[in-house]
Amino acid sequence: MTYLSHIVKARLEEKLKKLKKLRPLPKSAVQKLREKFQIEMTYNSNAIEGNSLTLKETFLVINEGLTVKGKPLKDHLEAKDHHVALEYLYDLIDKDKKHTVSEMLIKNLHQIILQETDKEWAGRYRNANVIIGGADHTPPDALQVPNMVRDLIVWLNSQKNKMNFIELSALLHHKLVHIHPFFDGNGRTARLTMNLFLMQAGYPLVVIMKTDRKKYYDVLNKADKGKYEPLIKFIAQSIERSLDIYLKTLTPASTKQEKFLTFADIAKNTPFSAKYLNLLARQGKLEAHKEGRNWLTTKEAIERYLKNRTRQRKV
Ligand SMILES: Nc1ncnc2c1ncn2[C@@H]1O[C@H](COP(=O)(O)OP(=O)(O)O)[C@@H](O)[C@H]1O
Ligand SMILES: [Mg+2]
Repeated sequence: MTYLSHIVKARLEEKLKKLKKLRPLPKSAVQKLREKFQIEMTYNSNAIEGNSLTLKETFLVINEGLTVKGKPLKDHLEAKDHHVALEYLYDLIDKDKKHTVSEMLIKNLHQIILQETDKEWAGRYRNANVIIGGADHTPPDALQVPNMVRDLIVWLNSQKNKMNFIELSALLHHKLVHIHPFFDGNGRTARLTMNLFLMQAGYPLVVIMKTDRKKYYDVLNKADKGKYEPLIKFIAQSIERSLDIYLKTLTPASTKQEKFLTFADIAKNTPFSAKYLNLLARQGKLEAHKEGRNWLTTKEAIERYLKNRTRQRKV
């Protein structure tokens, strides 16, 4: 079974290869990027589950140890715990580039993200049934959880050399939240677990954006019903965004690089309006990613889109 088109697969592989070729990467630049993504992911992953801190506040809480007036203590603790979990992931990968996903890893991550806010259940599977707010799917009976997680790991290992890595990472994410092994913290744990899986293949940290929460829930809902393609495309887009930002930042200024421009700027020199470009990007038809509120793409990406479009029309 394959979900991503060969064009997208080849493009992402090419970008990963380019990133690996830049190694050894300049240490200070990599450190800066890591920190940026750590804050970004901490903010977004916690905000998706209801944390009220903004990106800036998350930065201040983590880097300056600040307390934000009027925001719950719990939100501060969650930010710190999540940041620790990411440090843990980076440590694992720095020590062993091929560190794999295991049941232990999943439990450890959960333990870390809940250590200050829910000590009793941190690192422990649920012992009663749950529902997921905003989803049709009802997770399996609590009694089945340990076996289902173990089966998931066996399945994951059996697929590693068979399936495309990006597709597999998205399915891992879905299977984990589908089982919903814990009372709370399932989403955050799944996003971290998927990230370790990707890091072990050399990918940078992948962030699911708070602004995409609706889409994220929508694609998970479809995956519950066996329709995996929207979820996989969604994850692939998030992966490409991180690759683009890493490549853009780390490619030496002397090498030829594609220049990222806002849709408003690029629309001036293309046959498309900014609004249409927006649609193409959201549908995953155009290589583009979001930074802050703006979508960015390159002139070359538009040309590739035009070329592929004509090619697809002919067949
Ligand atoms: N339809 C769905 N099927 C499976 N999982 C879902 C669905 N909708 C949402 N989820 C997952 O459930 C998570 C929320 O569960 P929760 O245990 O509260 O995790 P967290 O506290 O980390 O947000 C979401 O982040 C998402 O990953
Ligand atoms: Mg929650």
